[in-house]
Amino acid sequence: MRLFVLGSAAGGGYPQWNCLCDVCRLYWAGDGRVNARGQSSIAASADGRNWLLLNASPDLRGQILAAPRLAPAAKAEADDRRATPIGAVLVTNGDVDHIAGLLTLREKQRFPLYGTAGVLAMIADNPVFSVLDPGFVEQRPVTVGTRFEPLPGLEAEIFSVPGKVPLFMETGEVAIGEEGEMTVGVRLSAHGRTAFYIPGCAHVPETLKARLDGADALLFDGTVFVDDEMKRAGVGEKTGRRMGHIPITGEGGSLTAFDGLTIGQKAYIHINNTNPILIAGSPERRAVEAAGWTVTNDGMEIAL
Ligand code: MLT
Ligand code: MN
Ligand code: ZN
Repeated sequence: MRLFVLGSAAGGGYPQWNCLCDVCRLYWAGDGRVNARGQSSIAASADGRNWLLLNASPDLRGQILAAPRLAPAAKAEADDRRATPIGAVLVTNGDVDHIAGLLTLREKQRFPLYGTAGVLAMIADNPVFSVLDPGFVEQRPVTVGTRFEPLPGLEAEIFSVPGKVPLFMETGEVAIGEEGEMTVGVRLSAHGRTAFYIPGCAHVPETLKARLDGADALLFDGTVFVDDEMKRAGVGEKTGRRMGHIPITGEGGSLTAFDGLTIGQKAYIHINNTNPILIAGSPERRAVEAAGWTVTNDGMEIAL
């Protein structure tokens, strides 16, 4: 099984277009320790030819242009003028960074769109997404805990993780950390190998730990290094937890949350522009690496 990182950054990408926080400032100054990163998305394949797209980021078109493995590929038997190795799409929640790229996929391409009934209904209720012609794009709601095969030989299962409704759906008092159908993680398996993709998670319950034990790879929510990082950076008031994202460090942080489990590789993904792990060689990057984590990069492939 192969996992390909299309975008390792959180919503807004790195750098954010209007940000001069200490981390983005390095990019604008041309500092070699940082590189631009697109928004949250990966692709997975059991055979290296057909790919499942997990989340469709606003940067999707550029991400495809930068990835030869996702270029249109004519199938031997067909004279199709519409062809892509992307055989199916799965969304893990309804945030802008995970669904806006669906608009990029509107060019009369046949593919199934998987997600929970709640997230797919939210997409269907928004008329802008009607540019995805239902004659081509079939919505396939999946329930948590049910295994399905989005591509031949690639098995998937979604499961609830603590999260919240998308930012643009927030009203009144927002329930954070709810385990429902608005935020899910994904288990992928092929050829006896198993990987988990969890780009958003508000905290780590025991049930999640039990699920992850024995995995070959875990790509996990690395949004913020410390919970109040955006406030400290002078760019916002919200904490990571308020955004539905567990911090890496501090009480209940993700850095040590999986200690004691057997997991082949642990890597952070969905990394916010304020997070100093984006800086090669920073104390924070060294701390996560010392704890056995890697930091994903756009264009990285993980072969399992
Ligand atoms: C998030 O992960 O919290 C969202 O992507 C925020 C956003 O919509 O920018
Ligand atoms: Mn996000
Ligand atoms: Zn920034």
